[in-house]
Formats: sequence, C-alpha cells, structure tokens
Amino acid sequence: MISGSKNAALGIIAAAMLLDGSCVIENAPHISDVSVLLSICRDLGATVTLNANHSLTIDPRTITTCEAVSTKVRSIRASYYLQGALLGRFHKAVLSLPGGCNFGTRPIDQHVKGFEAMGVKVSIAHGNIEMSADTFHGDHIYLDIASVGATINLMIAAVKAQGVTVIENAAREPHIVDVANFLNTMGANIKGAGTDVIRITGVEALPGGPSYSIIPDQIEAGTYMIAAAATRGDVVVRNIIPKHMEPLSVKLEEMGVQTQSGDDWFRVWTDGQAVLSKTTFKTLPYPGFPTDLQPQTTVLLCTATGISRMYETVWENRFQYVDELKLMGADISVAERVALISGPCQLTGARIMARDLRAGAAMVLAGLVANGETEVYNIEVIERGYEHLVEKLSALGADIRAVYDQEKPSVVF
Ligand code: UD1
Repeated sequence: MISGSKNAALGIIAAAMLLDGSCVIENAPHISDVSVLLSICRDLGATVTLNANHSLTIDPRTITTCEAVSTKVRSIRASYYLQGALLGRFHKAVLSLPGGCNFGTRPIDQHVKGFEAMGVKVSIAHGNIEMSADTFHGDHIYLDIASVGATINLMIAAVKAQGVTVIENAAREPHIVDVANFLNTMGANIKGAGTDVIRITGVEALPGGPSYSIIPDQIEAGTYMIAAAATRGDVVVRNIIPKHMEPLSVKLEEMGVQTQSGDDWFRVWTDGQAVLSKTTFKTLPYPGFPTDLQPQTTVLLCTATGISRMYETVWENRFQYVDELKLMGADISVAERVALISGPCQLTGARIMARDLRAGAAMVLAGLVANGETEVYNIEVIERGYEHLVEKLSALGADIRAVYDQEKPSVVF
C-alpha cells in the first residue's frame, strides 16, 4: 500500500495555514518531513491534532505570529510554502531560508520574483527572508523555469491576494493539482492547475470545508516498481493513481519489464532471470521522467545489458551517490549532467551512505540487488520521505532491518 504523497502533504499542510476555519486532512504520510512541518505549524500557534488512520485536524485560527525562524524551518525544503501561506494570512512573513536535500544550488529567485510582482517587499539577510506588502495584489507572473516550489508557493499566496494572479510557465506536477484541489475545496478560486497557466482569483475568506484526502505518492510507488524490476521480482503497488506512473512504466516496458495496471494499482514483473536492455533516460518536469526517481533508476540500469545513459536536466549536481554505488562495484562514469552506466554488473554488499532522501532509497535498492550484506548509513534521510520502508520491503520478502545507534528518530505520529 502506497502512502499519501509527501510533496502534496507538505504543500497542503502549509496551505492550511491560510484558512479561516479548521480542516481535516486524510491520507497524511507518517514521515519525518511532515512531522517537522507540523511542528513548525504548532510553533506558529496552529492547533494540530493527529487522528487515527493517517488523518489530521488543523485549526490555524490560533496562529499568533507571522515569524518562523528556527533550525526546524531550515531543515526542510518545503518550509518555503509557509512564505506564501503567511503572506496570504498577514501580508507579512519572516522565515529562515529553507534547507532540504543537497543536489546543487537551490535558488528561490522565481518565488521572490513572483512575490515582488504581487507588491511584496522582499529582503534576504542573516539566513532569513523577510517579506511585507502594503497592498498585496494579484499580477501576471511568468516563471523563467517551471519550478514546482515557486508554482505552489505563489499559488498559495495568491489565494488571499486582491484580484487575479496568473502564473504562466507553471509546473504541472500532480501535487500542484492536489494543493489546488485542497484550496478550492476550502473556498479558493484556482483554475488551470495541472496546465502551464494557473489563474487564481483572490478571495476574502477561506472558511474551510469537508475533509480532504491527499493523493498517493508517485515517487514512493515508483521506487517499489523499480525495486521489483531491479530484483527481477513481481510486485503489485496499490492505492496509486496509475496515470501518474506512466512516465516510469513506459520506460520500464522499453527495458523489457512487464507491467499491468488497474483502477488503483500497478503490477511490475519480469520473467525469471530476464535480460533487461540498456535504455536512455532524461529527467524532466512532469509529465516527463521524474528527477526524484533518477537515483533508484540508475541502480536498475546497473542490472541491464549494455551502456545506458541517464541525463539529469532538473538538478545540477544529483549524481553524488554514484560514488557509493562504485564502492559496490558499479561501472558508472559521470560527465557533467549525464551518467553512463555499463551493465550488467553484479553489485556486491558494502558499507555505503544515504546522501539524501532519494539517493538513500537507491542505496537500499542497491543493497537488495547486491551479493552479500549491505549496510546503509544515515538512514534518517530516507525517513524524511518513505513511510515504513523497511516494513514494506520485508513484507515483499526482502531481508532488511533498521538499526539505530541511539533512539529511533522522532516522527511524531
Ligand atoms: C520539488 C520537490 C523535489 C523535486 C523537484 C523537481 C518538494 C518539497 N520538492 O523541489 O523533490 O526534485 O521539485 O521535481 O516538492 N529553480 C530556480 N529558481 C527558483 C526555483 C527553482 O532556478 O526560484 C530551479 C532549481 O534550481 C532546479 C529547478 O528549478 O534546477 C527545479 O526546481 P523546483 O521545481 O523549484 O524544485 P523544488 O520545488 O525545490
């Protein structure tokens, strides 16, 4: 069973800080990034109740401040969505700049450009971003890059801006549509999410609404689908939206992996010791192949026959994990933004490091494929985005366990 989408949950929880009433959010994944964001929301004064069955009740009417300056805010990327939410609520916000996985510089110039167009004065100093607007109004914003974060951040803010905001060259990822659907359910007026032009008409109030269920996690589902192919297994992933998996499934089929889908599931399997063929991948914004499945796919390509190419076009430095795979015997060379992967290569167990969330998942997959025992260190980064990874893989037959030197990291669910 696939959990709720990490990136949708983070956008939706931040967007909930705009509401004038309480809301119930269902299918919230139990992962540490969500737990950190909820803790930041509590620090702002919001009332957050954890219900059974992955449900949350959030009441932002108790928020007392527009300031969130802390290491918690710095520790996750998605804390930047609070910029849009607090601006929408107070027309003023002071936040620590966001952190998150390190795969090159992660500028926020497109967020800032959009806020400035909406009448916001922005200054960045001492690791914080300070924003305030005398009149906070809609405008026509053209993004130079189809940034997921800028699209969501500006969309959230625009919900409470005066007049109409049009975001052009908007990103189209499924979680952008989910955040828009959540806000519309709560009383917003957003049209066009999922296309490259989003039109938001500002509203006076957001009363809240019926409970809202977060979409399934496309990247978590993709990770298990890739794991099935890499281990030459047979796995059915359930509770997914099959359409969201097509950028991956068509490529798996190109390699010789078999797939089948139904209303809310995908089956991925190979025939016995199937020979998978070399393939070229290129990461792109949705509906292209997701960059967040790039490291996991590289592990799969180690098992394919021939020289595969993996082009990374979204992030400037997302091949750092390749050094870890080389410790396991992988034959990979990286030149700028392309990795050449020669296979098939029998990986061997080693002590390796989870360098970031998705690279960490890739290291686990490499361990499943390798001969002998693999130890993956720094697994806390994997828990930022995968709920019960060890349990889910064990249920599929993997020989895997999590070991903590100290107490298990806190996920407040
Ligand atoms: C989000 C995801 C992340 C995923 C990425 C791309 C969350 C919390 N994170 O990150 O997992 O890998 O989308 O699908 O949802 N850029 C700029 N200026 C900006 C903003 C972005 O130049 O103001 C560039 C970035 O450096 C990068 C590209 O645009 O090269 C895409 O970034 P963006 O889509 O914004 O990614 P995030 O929202 O940070």
